[in-house]
Amino acid sequence: MRKRLAILACFSLMTIEARAEPSRAANGQNFAQANCASCHAIGPVGDSPLGKAPPFRTLHLRYPVEDLAESLAEGITTAHAAMPQFKLDVAQIEDFIAYLKSLER
Ligand code: HEC
Repeated sequence: MRKRLAILACFSLMTIEARAEPSRAANGQNFAQANCASCHAIGPVGDSPLGKAPPFRTLHLRYPVEDLAESLAEGITTAHAAMPQFKLDVAQIEDFIAYLKSLER
């Protein structure tokens, strides 16, 4: 009985978490649309406008998207000059990572 209660408690925490996610992801999507979509495919389908820019939905195949948080905070630098430098604040990063996670399936 106690075990079942614990499971129930976990489950309700999970639903609170899940309910908080969509707005974060929506913020992240808006951010990506405004700042990244000119080069990257940011959605669940489609090719990047700039061929060399990886579609955001493929990033998690190369590394856990959480790993991006650090480079986003420091300003992403890639070898490619076509990629401008970005520096995001913590809330923007969390929103953006939430959006990237929503693309994983
Ligand atoms: C002007 C075009 C352009 C814009 C705008 C742009 N990118 Fe990029 N991005 C690129 C290109 C080109 C690459 C590939 C660089 C390479 O592989 O040399 C890239 C690569 C990346 C990578 C992969 C880096 C890696 O090494 O795995 C991430 C993550 C990324 N961009 C995030 C973003 C984010 C977040 C934004 C918006 C805030 C953004 N980009 C906006 C052109 C752009």
